[in-house]
Amino acid sequence: MRWPKAASVPGRAASCARPDHRGPLERVNTVAQSVRIALLGCGTVGGGVVKLLRTHAAAYAHKLGVPLVLAGVADRSLKPDRSLGLTGKLITRDSAALVARDDIDIVVELFGGQEPARTLVLRALAHGKDVVTGNKAMLAQHGAEIFAAAARRGLAVGFEASVGGGIPIIRVLREALVGDRHRAVYGIVNGTCNSILTTMSMRGAEFKDALAAAQRAGLAEADPSIDIEGHDTAHKLCLLAALAFGVMLTPAQVHTEGITRLTPEDIVYARELGYTAKLLAIAKADGGAIEAHVHPTLLPHDHVLASINDVYNAIYIDGEALGTTLYSGLGAGEMPSATAVIADIMEIARERLAGGMGRAHALGYPVGLVRRARVKPMDDVVCEYYLRFMARDQPGVLGAIASVLGANGISIASVIQKGRGGKNTVPVIMRTHEAPERNLKRALKRIERTRWVDAEPAFIRIEENL
Ligand code: HSE
Repeated sequence: MRWPKAASVPGRAASCARPDHRGPLERVNTVAQSVRIALLGCGTVGGGVVKLLRTHAAAYAHKLGVPLVLAGVADRSLKPDRSLGLTGKLITRDSAALVARDDIDIVVELFGGQEPARTLVLRALAHGKDVVTGNKAMLAQHGAEIFAAAARRGLAVGFEASVGGGIPIIRVLREALVGDRHRAVYGIVNGTCNSILTTMSMRGAEFKDALAAAQRAGLAEADPSIDIEGHDTAHKLCLLAALAFGVMLTPAQVHTEGITRLTPEDIVYARELGYTAKLLAIAKADGGAIEAHVHPTLLPHDHVLASINDVYNAIYIDGEALGTTLYSGLGAGEMPSATAVIADIMEIARERLAGGMGRAHALGYPVGLVRRARVKPMDDVVCEYYLRFMARDQPGVLGAIASVLGANGISIASVIQKGRGGKNTVPVIMRTHEAPERNLKRALKRIERTRWVDAEPAFIRIEENL
């Protein structure tokens, strides 16, 4: 598509950078021959986007009235591929030149990570391009800057692919549920961790084998520690909280624990107690503050989230008017995320073709009104807990542990002691009633310093009431 350039914004389509005095129907762009896309990154998701642009080309042209054209692809290691229509002429290593080209309408950023993605996205916006990205790490860290740059120019930043893969959760929060005030948003948003936990708990797989399978399936980030240490989940929670509550959290404000400290033994003992382990992202509005945390969580087996397995994600939204709704689907991988990218491309293309101004409020709030979040300290968060002590097998030890917990206001709901097995210590598993995290940590520190246990006590938060 070739729109005349706006005077003040290089590359910006004049049909979108009015004022003009025509009626809405007359404003429909009549010179557009196509909508032209530049793709940054052609890995798992980018490859899926290329395939969809090729195989669904006729359907997209039918829906838009003009074709979507892949006009350039920047990727360091990409080779021409005739089956995908990737000719040598289409491929470049010069991303900075590609995002500034006059014949590009929409820049799709799928490099991931912070740089050069952030610089390229800002450059694309400065040259009047709308942007589509699946880069949750970049938006969680630099969203305020990027959304403000887009809003100043009336350009769109589509980021449906950044959370929940094929689940259209960004549109749900920004558009479908815009009429409600949200109390909480929580769920399973990392396909890699959910696959690992599913194969460990249901098929008895080792952690490293389960991770390797997730990597082979193209689910994991280039650096998989971003998945398994919980950071990817925290990035997604920042975006969900921004959409749900109109506050900007930084990843550093989200208490984040991954799944690497979860032992196969704890997963088995928790199952015996009636719980399934999941990595949850949880954000709740709490007066003027926000509760935001990511960690392994035990859910009763009959909780819906306990049955969300493998690469599936599921997100609950709790609104004052509507109550609770649940969104579930494939959360990662080639086609789920590529479909979300195409959804943003199509929406932006429709707006451009209709002479619209893009989505100035990418988050659903005027960017200047998005507040910095005040986050409730984790010490004040109240939960039930699963505890495991490797306790000396001696008279009085269990009572001594129980009395420290009691002295810190922690009431025990049930206890299981596992068999001796010829060792000096035995696993003692406890489930507690609700207590603030501050009290639990104080009690565990006190117990760890005694000779009653020979290892750091393990604890996992239990959510009975989500
Ligand atoms: N690594 C991410 C996941 C990809 O496993 O969920 C999708 O965001």
